[in-house]
Amino acid sequence: MAAHPAPAPKALRGAAISMRGDPFAQEPRHCLLHEADALVLIEGGRITRFGPFHALRDDLPVGTELVEYPDAILCPGFVDAHVHYPQLGMIGAHGAQLLQWLERYTFPTEARFADPAHCTAVAQAFLRELLRAGTTTAAVYCTVHPQSADAFFAESHRFNTRMVAGKVLMDRHAPAALLDTAQRGFDESEALIRRWHGVGRQHYGVTPRFAPTSTEAQLDAAGALLRAHSDLFLQTHLSENREEVAWVRELFPHCDGYLDVYARAGLVGPRAVFGHGIHVTEAELCTCHGAGAALAHCPTSNLFLGSGLFRLMDTLDPRRPVRVGLGTDVGAGTSLSQLRTLGEAYKVSQLLGRGLDAVQGFFLATSGGARALHLDDRIGRLAPGYDADLVVLDPGATPLLRFRTARCDSLEELLFVLMTLGDERAVRATWAGGHCVYDRDREGEPFSCPG
Ligand code: GUN
Ligand code: ZN
Repeated sequence: MAAHPAPAPKALRGAAISMRGDPFAQEPRHCLLHEADALVLIEGGRITRFGPFHALRDDLPVGTELVEYPDAILCPGFVDAHVHYPQLGMIGAHGAQLLQWLERYTFPTEARFADPAHCTAVAQAFLRELLRAGTTTAAVYCTVHPQSADAFFAESHRFNTRMVAGKVLMDRHAPAALLDTAQRGFDESEALIRRWHGVGRQHYGVTPRFAPTSTEAQLDAAGALLRAHSDLFLQTHLSENREEVAWVRELFPHCDGYLDVYARAGLVGPRAVFGHGIHVTEAELCTCHGAGAALAHCPTSNLFLGSGLFRLMDTLDPRRPVRVGLGTDVGAGTSLSQLRTLGEAYKVSQLLGRGLDAVQGFFLATSGGARALHLDDRIGRLAPGYDADLVVLDPGATPLLRFRTARCDSLEELLFVLMTLGDERAVRATWAGGHCVYDRDREGEPFSCPG
């Protein structure tokens, strides 16, 4: 696999925001860092300087290329903590809740990934849609076919995006064409780990789909993979739907609840990301807190499938805060845009009688998501030493956004309007590893790979 050549230094100029604290633990206003006219210096794919333009502009390395974004807001690239790339072509499948939706729509869609050419075509389309939405890191489910993971990693490596992905493990309760076995799933995952984990910015996530589609032997094999290789991720679903929770109780009567099924297999630890967690118990939240495991809040999906309302503020309770990332969960989720997802997260909080302000929202979409994935020493902030992954937001992207944001009295209000009215149209450009991988306004092809 080709390494990415170090590009010439770049300096981005524009208004900029980044997080310097956790707005769920501290006063939100104090957690938002805002530079009205900032300079972000990028060298070797990393941010090397960040501060006021006037203070930094006279001391740039020779040959630095200046890229100016007037009337835009530079923000750390968005982090999507839970998404299924093979489901891109089935967003908006009508009329079913989780278990019926899987059988009726998801499994037939995923069966098509037996064909490597199909894997490549969908992986290419998906990665471009992520970049169009300003997302630079995601935890991505592939299908049971190892070629689906190869196709995704190959495309992510080409764009030099930092991604977590893995082949789904599934050895029961699905159509025969989508089943592996405990041994085959182990072997195929291990081969993918050797091929991709730690290659450039790629990370492997061991991916048992959810407890009902794995035998205990397969969950144990997933645990063995985690023990055998360092720094792997683990992603699966947890307590999304009441019928699913009851089924898990039937299938694993000797376990003390849903999370315990995973805990017994050694799957609950740092870098474990559990999708949904709507119907979790207080004891399960305590376990996640103690283990450093994360939940992915997927509001558009939870509303679309009628799964329920995720108790964000309870989950983040400062007495035992659980790491939370924001997931789009496409194709049960209805958008790849973190802005749109934040808008729905706000409405879910409103239904529960709790708030979600703009600083908290942008934290979840950036450094909170990075923290959920234990990648917060590398991504999620604009600061020296961090990967140069940025999204350039355009508050005047549509006539309505322009009209409304012109009437904002504060930055917080403007960010909140972006959460309410924004989507991929509000993404002017996306930078990954110091390269402008997407430029909405570039003539011809808006996407560009480094090198
Ligand atoms: N639970 C098991 N598989 C899936 C999936 O593909 N999507 C969602 N939303 N939940 C799941
Ligand atoms: Zn999911």
